[in-house]
Amino acid sequence: MVLQELLGIEWPIIQAPMAGVQDSALAIAVSNAGGLGSLPCAMLGPDALRDELAKIRAQTSRPYNVNFFCHRPPVPDAAREAMWRQTLAHYYREFDIDPASIAAGPGRLPFDAAAAALLEEFKPPVVSFHFGLPEEALLARVRRWGAKIISSATTVDEARWLAARGVDVIVAQGLEAGGHRGMFLSEDLSTQVGTFALLPQIVRAVPVPVVAAGGIADAQGVQAALALGAAGVQVGTAYLLCPEASTSVPHRAALQSAAAGHTALTNLYTGRPARGIVTRLMREQGPLSALAPAFPLAAAALAPLRAKAEVAGRSDFSPLWAGQNVSGCRAVPAAQLTRALAGR
Ligand SMILES: Cc1cc2nc3c(=O)[nH]c(=O)nc-3n(C[C@H](O)[C@H](O)[C@H](O)COP(=O)(O)O)c2cc1C
Repeated sequence: MVLQELLGIEWPIIQAPMAGVQDSALAIAVSNAGGLGSLPCAMLGPDALRDELAKIRAQTSRPYNVNFFCHRPPVPDAAREAMWRQTLAHYYREFDIDPASIAAGPGRLPFDAAAAALLEEFKPPVVSFHFGLPEEALLARVRRWGAKIISSATTVDEARWLAARGVDVIVAQGLEAGGHRGMFLSEDLSTQVGTFALLPQIVRAVPVPVVAAGGIADAQGVQAALALGAAGVQVGTAYLLCPEASTSVPHRAALQSAAAGHTALTNLYTGRPARGIVTRLMREQGPLSALAPAFPLAAAALAPLRAKAEVAGRSDFSPLWAGQNVSGCRAVPAAQLTRALAGR
């Protein structure tokens, strides 16, 4: 009951924030069903963020989570960018795209003072971070309105680092998880560990509640995580087919096809390793490339290819983020899925 009491929720189920495939609708549905709904904010500008927070406030009185990235914005590297676009040149020719016309793409912004000021108006009860934590002064500002702080750890070292900085809950993100690895102390992918190897080690290492994430898709998976010492679970992939998610049509189709059985970590889409269904781009370039621009700059070069291919009904250049276990994906209302995960 530790997690439920701490966060004011009914079930130990956190709906994973998933930038690009959901907005407030999914978060509201999950919070109203007694789980913790999450709003991913990494791709929202200030106006969109304010609108989404207003919708949540209007449509649920239950606790909810807002999620931010806290990467260090990269220094653009013109030479690397030019080499990357050269690598992609034959795709640009295939889709009749003028590489000179490609604008800087939709960025992913780290949590900053402007976002903190906006949040202060709404005082969300839970704030979670991916890629570490913001600087101490910003974190202190978030604490001031009483928000509980959550962040992801992908190694025992990261969990200890987060606990030392006073986070309230740590998400142990196993290697099976869909989307970006939350790794922040190392870039070495060989440090990354599967959920059921990582979880008990983090539980033993830190004094705060630990939430398991990665590959958990049904009530049995939830029970297994709890048996290994988790205070709760964070589930992402299983929610991707819910009607309240904004998952694209090609992404939904891929999740329901045999292709979903093969995922890989790739840095091609954003510059940071993230798990998604293997696409043509990943097959042809290899899922990890030293040439891909630093996070989040890599997204720009692919944006026009993705757009043109999707118009033609193809997801060859789309990030199809998904974890290794898609068996829990069901096109049912998020409230129903949340209750099923809770065994109700
Ligand atoms: C489509 C997708 C998008 C994601 N985007 C985010 C995000 O914006 N912020 C975040 O903290 N985690 C994000 N994640 C990772 C989740 O927080 C979580 O670690 C993961 O979904 C758990 O594994 P599962 O997908 O196997 O359930 C994303 C995951 C997916 C599948």
